[in-house]
Amino acid sequence: SNQPMIAPSILSADFARLADEIAAVNGEPGKRADWLHVDVMDAHFVPNLTLGLPVVESILKATDIPVDCHLMIEDPDRWAVGYAEAGAYNVTVHVEAAKDPIAIAKDLRAAGAKAGLSIKPGTPLDPYLDVLKHYDTLLVMSVEPGFGGQKFMADVLDKARKARELVDTGHLKLVVEIDGGINADTIEQAAEAGVDCFVAGSAVYNADDPAKAVEALRAKAAP
Ligand code: DX5
Ligand code: ZN
Repeated sequence: SNQPMIAPSILSADFARLADEIAAVNGEPGKRADWLHVDVMDAHFVPNLTLGLPVVESILKATDIPVDCHLMIEDPDRWAVGYAEAGAYNVTVHVEAAKDPIAIAKDLRAAGAKAGLSIKPGTPLDPYLDVLKHYDTLLVMSVEPGFGGQKFMADVLDKARKARELVDTGHLKLVVEIDGGINADTIEQAAEAGVDCFVAGSAVYNADDPAKAVEALRAKAAP
């Protein structure tokens, strides 16, 4: 894979100071976040509630960092395209929630966004390989979605490895992204499994200097 990408998750940021928290990862080259990961939760698909389209629209106005929307919501068939129309760079839906994931991918791309598909730790990859031909990003969850600060589940790396192999052999064309428990201690094993893009919430936003944390994570993930 190429130069590793780091996507800070604002879930662990101070939501009352969101513009400052976003600016904190918009540092000089090398310390800049590649994507800004925004976790949308609806208290139904996951047992937590965060923010929705109005807040994402404001975030999009506040930054030039490509916004990576991770939708942990029911009925993404209805709601996902709105985030693409608003200008998100990548919009990821959960395969466990999607009724027609191929139609969602087409809608997202038609609205000008990259299409992402996420799988929870217990969800196998193999049944979705044909569906993934329609997607630009695979988000492998390495914690149960819903909360930041959880422990990394290393057994999901087999799915990342499989996806990497299918990309490298030309069967799929995907950014392989991982989300949950990524920090200085866990990022290397994810990088070895072939992950391209690393979401990090608490590891970035609980650090004294978020931009430095981004830089340190990227250095650890580099081959
Ligand atoms: C959890 C979210 C993650 C979360 C990761 O459901 O999808 O993006 O912010 O937080 P950390 O990096 O602290 O595990
Ligand atoms: Zn996420």
